[in-house]
Amino acid sequence: MCTFAFMKKLYIETYGCQMNFADSEVVAAILKDMFEVTKEVEEADLVLINTCSIREKAEQRIHKRLQELESLKRRHHGMQVGLLGCMAERMKEELLQTEPVLDFIAGPDAYRSLPQLIADSRNQGPRFNVMLSEEETYEDIIPVRYDVNGVSAYVSIMRGCNNFCSYCVVPYTRGRERSRSPKTILGEVEQLLRDGFKEVTLLGQNVNSYHWEDDRVGEMTFAKLMAAVADLSPDLRVRFATSHPKDISDELIETIARYDNICKYIHLPVQSGSDAVLKRMNRSYTRDYYMGRVRKIKELMPDCAISTDIIAGFCGETLEDHQQTLEVMREVGYEYAYMFKYSERGGTLSAKRYADDVPDEEKTRRLEEIIALQGELSLVSNQRDLGKTFRVLVEGASKRSADYLYGRNSQNKVIIFPKGNHQIGEYIDVAVKDCTAATLFGD
Ligand code: 5AD
Ligand code: SF4
Repeated sequence: MCTFAFMKKLYIETYGCQMNFADSEVVAAILKDMFEVTKEVEEADLVLINTCSIREKAEQRIHKRLQELESLKRRHHGMQVGLLGCMAERMKEELLQTEPVLDFIAGPDAYRSLPQLIADSRNQGPRFNVMLSEEETYEDIIPVRYDVNGVSAYVSIMRGCNNFCSYCVVPYTRGRERSRSPKTILGEVEQLLRDGFKEVTLLGQNVNSYHWEDDRVGEMTFAKLMAAVADLSPDLRVRFATSHPKDISDELIETIARYDNICKYIHLPVQSGSDAVLKRMNRSYTRDYYMGRVRKIKELMPDCAISTDIIAGFCGETLEDHQQTLEVMREVGYEYAYMFKYSERGGTLSAKRYADDVPDEEKTRRLEEIIALQGELSLVSNQRDLGKTFRVLVEGASKRSADYLYGRNSQNKVIIFPKGNHQIGEYIDVAVKDCTAATLFGD
């Protein structure tokens, strides 16, 4: 990246999912001729906040942050502040009235217009662009990876979501599903390999509904794309996030099983273990179907780790429904889970159709039960690994001590081990000696 003295400084703060982090790298690329990225908000000429709307708490955090930025902006003459991402799309120009610190806002498909928004808002006052697109994938833009360890990188392969799970704002804030061409995806991964990266995570709101068809490549499913990426180098690890159970095809499971360098880790959000709740959530599968997919995964890959997302206290969830969620968790024996209380989002199907009728204290109680159970399951899973040896990709120095490094195994578990002569980016075999529910310790 250019570091001419006259270049202005850009500070980007990202909230929410991995897609947002990948988008921030695209934004840095779009602005790279005007701004260089800084890690110090105090010295920034432009501050961008890439936001998340998934739960109310996420938005509250951002409102608070914008208040803090107001006093910083007052002290820093000429500083501009822009808001990007899902909150921009959900609240649109109303945000410019309620948050006077903002010079402009841009929705997830409007990042190419950022240079214009920056200039126009400087000259003419607050501006916005929240147009969604049916085609935009930013596929020709090589992201500026300004905050990575040089080992693993995200590669965005599709955008948007057509599933309309009833609780979820994503289909409204990120628009319709669209896939990026295999040619540009493979080109980006090849460049990452040349730059020394060892791991890529193929990203999308719903990666396994990836679909591409043209005269040159014919039909490209997600499974075929993964195979093509994995074929680029046996030294490259391939991961993906995140998937919908309805699209986890046999072809995909078989492809993951066939390739040593496709990681044996699948994030397969169940959301609830109750068929009645799944139906109200518009998840389009039953508990039985979900368990069938899990059985298929475990049959072909007994060592595959599975993680999930769970929502506690969705509309109309009874104690019996909640018990069924706990049952599914035990039955699958998840390695890891992201667990949330249901948070009603304006405009979604569930907000329109169902009463948010589980009292907050009861949601908290159910969530705590889910978290406690997951703690037990993670510990059991980690204890099963004691004495085993795993191939680990070294990612960095352990936060606790400079004498230790950390990395992850294929199953996405973090392993901490003595530094020795090992380097970041190396593959090493580590024997697991000890564990907690969160971490493995090795030699
Ligand atoms: N309330 C709580 N959790 C939600 N999620 C999505 N929308 C909501 C909501 N309104 C969770 C789902 C999803 C994850 C990314 O966030 O579990 O898989
Ligand atoms: Fe939201 Fe469902 Fe789409 Fe995931 S699959 S982004 S939960 S609507």
